[in-house]
Formats: sequence, structure tokens, C-alpha cells
Amino acid sequence: MSSFEDFLQSQLRQITEAGLLRKPSMVSPAQGSVVQSGGQTLQNFSSNDYLGLANHPAVKKAAQEAIDRAGAGTGASRLICGTLPEHLQLEADLSTFKRCEAALGFSSGYAAAMGAIPALMGKGDVIILDKLCHACLVDGAHLSGATLRVFPHNDLSALESRLLWARKTHPQAKVLVLAESVYSMDGDLALLSEIVELKDRHGAWLLLDEAHGVGVLGEGGRGLADAVGVAHRVELQMGTLGKALGSSGAYLCGAASLREFLVNRARSFIFSTAPPPSAAAAASAAIALLSDPYTAGNLISSLHKNVQRLCMNLQLPASPSPIVPIILGAEETAMQSSARLREAGFLVPAIRFPTVARGQARLRITLSSGHTDTAIDDLAYAIRESSANSHFE
Ligand SMILES: Cc1ncc(COP(=O)(O)O)c(C=O)c1O
Repeated sequence: MSSFEDFLQSQLRQITEAGLLRKPSMVSPAQGSVVQSGGQTLQNFSSNDYLGLANHPAVKKAAQEAIDRAGAGTGASRLICGTLPEHLQLEADLSTFKRCEAALGFSSGYAAAMGAIPALMGKGDVIILDKLCHACLVDGAHLSGATLRVFPHNDLSALESRLLWARKTHPQAKVLVLAESVYSMDGDLALLSEIVELKDRHGAWLLLDEAHGVGVLGEGGRGLADAVGVAHRVELQMGTLGKALGSSGAYLCGAASLREFLVNRARSFIFSTAPPPSAAAAASAAIALLSDPYTAGNLISSLHKNVQRLCMNLQLPASPSPIVPIILGAEETAMQSSARLREAGFLVPAIRFPTVARGQARLRITLSSGHTDTAIDDLAYAIRESSANSHFE
């Protein structure tokens, strides 16, 4: 029997030999369109802080004031003594912003999915998910013990055939569809109106993860469901606070009864220390900014203008979201391309298996409202140069 150390070393060797070893590289400041890393100044095209709110003075001030008022930590789970006014204020702000009856905060998007999906679904139920759903939705679905069926990305006829199958083979079962509004590694959108039609026609429920849609799509950044007018037909709207909202944490929103059910059944809510009041207050401040039509309009239109500038420069189709992937195929090619861009002063991550399918390794460029025209043009130039020098396949 191998020792613990032998086991770890052999696993690490396997990961390295497959070209999949990952190491967190430190950046400072944490967010921002320009960061320092490894002694270099880099234009940051890798963050999900799409509106630059993580460093917005009002958002930072709200977090600082919450620490002064309520302390750095919460000391207990929400159901023991960890529920502070900042959490309840955030949930009220989220439900107003999202035009829902109620919202419930979680410490992360991963925790929200791992709590909500197994709370609702169990053995004998059916979960039908888009092939490109985020790992937290996949893991939550597995944890639930329900029967899983995957449909090819945005393939509506495949979704319908799985819904028909579920109704025929599991007539008494609850059926839940999982989809994202913006797919995190491809930047494209769910065919949401059609998905909503289908799940209603076949008596299923929908959990829509708006992690990359909130702050980005729809009026004031209320997300895709609001933008296409189907929010009231989506049973569970999930979103994260750590991306466009510049803080950390997540929420699920919908009916008041959904909130009360999750408080009582979502294990990641019940058995986990409440998020710090500073994170909740920062997210409330971000929502206040987006609730002002002038501020939201400026931030969101700058973001989309930047996205279109990069896409035009690279002769790519216009992206509906701030995520612009350049698919390169081999893991090694993506790693080399990312390293070359880093040498040229740009932080653009290579995304590899298991985040994306094998052979689908890519550069994932994310834009922010804070990028300058010069930074975007320089990035496009560096990518075109790499391509001309055939570093790209
Ligand atoms: C689509 C999607 N859902 C959920 C998550 C998880 O959210 P969190 O980072 O808050 O755990 C992420 C990314 O992190 C994501 O991209």
C-alpha cells in the first residue's frame, strides 16, 4: 500500500503529464482592469468583475462601514445567531431589484446550487441539464440522487425529447431543468423563451443560473429572464454576487414560499457560517448603483461597447456577453498562447479540461466597463500578431 505522500505525488505527476496542472498566481490589487502579478503590470482580461464594482468607492465604503458596525465575521450559521441586518437588507434589495417576492443569500454560487438542487429533488425525480452547465449545477444535480439527463447545448428538440421521456417513464416525478442565462466559458445565451415554453408545456420547473447575466443583461442588469419577460415564469432564479456585483456570495430568488423552504431544507444554508456582513453590504451598495438608471445605463453600455470593440477588432461575431472565447483545441496550445499574451502584458487565462471538454481548450477573454480603448486595441493586436506567427491553430 502506498504512503499518503506517494499517493499525492503520483496524482500530481499524472495531472502534470496530462498538461493539466494548475497553480493559483497572485494578483494585486484583487480586481481592476490593470493588475500586478509576478512583478509585471498586466491588463486584466480575466476577471468577472464586469462593471468594476469591486473597487467602486460606494461599494468599498459600504463594506468598510459594515465591518465597523457589525464586525468582520458572523460567528455562526444564519439559523443560530448569524443573521444580521445586512443579510436581511440584501435579501430585500435583491427581491426589489429582481422583482421577486423573496430572495435568500448563500455564501457562494457553488453553495447555492449544492443546497437548493438536493433540497428540491431526490431519488425518483428527474433533472435535465444543458451540457454546458457550470460544475456547481452538475454537482448539485448529482448530490440530489435524481436521475440525470443531459441535452446538447441549447438543443431545444433534444430538451423536448428528454422532457417527454421523463413524463412517460417517471409520471409522478418532479422534473427540473437546469440552464444558465450566459454560459460561462462560451459567453453565449440560453434560448430562454423557448426553454420556458417547453418546461411549462411539460410541467417541469426551471432553475436559471444568472451568474454572468446579472449586472450585464436586461434593464439595469436585472438579467436575461427579466430582459426577455419570462422572470415570473422561472421557478428559481439564481445569481452570484461575486461577479458583476463586485462582492462575494450568491442568492436564489422567486416566491416567498421558495425562500422559506430553502431556509428549512438547503443544507449549505443551514450548516454553514453566515457570510460576512461586509459582503452583504457591498452587494447591497452595488444593487443601489444598478437601481439608478443613469449609473446602470453608463456602466452597462460601456461594458457592451468594449465587448463590441474587441469583437470587431478580432473580426469575431458580436458577443452578447462580456465573455469572448477563442477556442484553440489542444491544452498545450492554449497554455502557450496565454503565456505569450502574458509576456506581452495581458492577463488572459487558458481554460482547459475539466472546465471545458477535452480538445476544446481556449483563451477566455472577459471585458469590463473599465477597460480603455487602447488596452482593448492592444490586446486585439497582440492576439492578431500571435495568430499571424501561427501560435494559434
Ligand atoms: C455559471 C456559474 N454559476 C455559478 C458559479 C459559482 O459561483 P461562486 O463563484 O459564487 O461559487 C460560477 C462561477 O464561479 C459560474 O460561472
